[in-house]
Amino acid sequence: MKILMSLAVLVLLGVFAISVQAQQPAPTGKRNLPPIPGLGPDPVLPANPTPAQQAEYKALMAERTRQRWNYILTDSVARARVLNEKPNALLVETAAGRKPGTALDADMGEGRNAIYLAQQGWQVTGVDIAEKALAYAQKRAQATGVKLKTEIADMAKYDWGNNKWDLIVLSYAGGRDYADRVMRALKPGGIVVLEAFHMDATNRLQVVGGDYRVFFNTNELPKLYTAAGLKILRYEEPIGTADFTKEQLRLVKMVAQKP
Ligand SMILES: C[S@@+](CC[C@H](N)C(=O)[O-])C[C@H]1O[C@@H](n2cnc3c(N)ncnc32)[C@H](O)[C@@H]1O
Repeated sequence: MKILMSLAVLVLLGVFAISVQAQQPAPTGKRNLPPIPGLGPDPVLPANPTPAQQAEYKALMAERTRQRWNYILTDSVARARVLNEKPNALLVETAAGRKPGTALDADMGEGRNAIYLAQQGWQVTGVDIAEKALAYAQKRAQATGVKLKTEIADMAKYDWGNNKWDLIVLSYAGGRDYADRVMRALKPGGIVVLEAFHMDATNRLQVVGGDYRVFFNTNELPKLYTAAGLKILRYEEPIGTADFTKEQLRLVKMVAQKP
């Protein structure tokens, strides 16, 4: 039992921390962690890959992402170790002063933020590639007595709509490539609430598959979202407890509004 628990801790600490090549030793100071159970070794991108090889690698990594999150967000031990099961604090604080309307929770996960918003009267649509996490969210929404619309989709291909949302939630969901889409999709006066890791966090966490989508450089986000036409209402880069990993890391927190 003890061995199993220790193994679980190691696995779970690896949410954002599994190297591109499983066999490769972790750089000093970073964790060298075993993969998620049943996932097998990471694919290896050949040197000088052809476009077809690159596309295949990308597809394989996307599939691994789906499987990884299906596991982490629905396994009770994994959830307890890794996830702040409460709604994101920045979101709670920001939504508190606003009249409920339509909300899009991009990369919704297991629904902690979406269910909270629905409980406050928001009409929430949650989108994610991890179908088991969405099913988990629906079950909890039903148990809680709130309605949630969920869609299995890749946010990069999803139709975010035009002037559709009063609130867009990007909670550990990236946002680097989304600024223009967010600008179009928000209603005038609508806001986006974004929290993720600062790039400094990569000193402690290895980056899964070389995917930096949830890691941001200093002031990267306000620049991107200002350039897209949004007004930055709040921006901070504090050291804080991350909602994923639960470690003290540098984070990025932004609230921006469509004029
Ligand atoms: C760190 S979790 C964040 C979940 C949720 N936003 C929260 O804060 O609790 C990342 C989520 O992004 C989802 N995800 C990753 N890539 C995605 C993509 N391209 N499209 C949609 N969801 C994606 C994963 O399945 C996972 O549920």
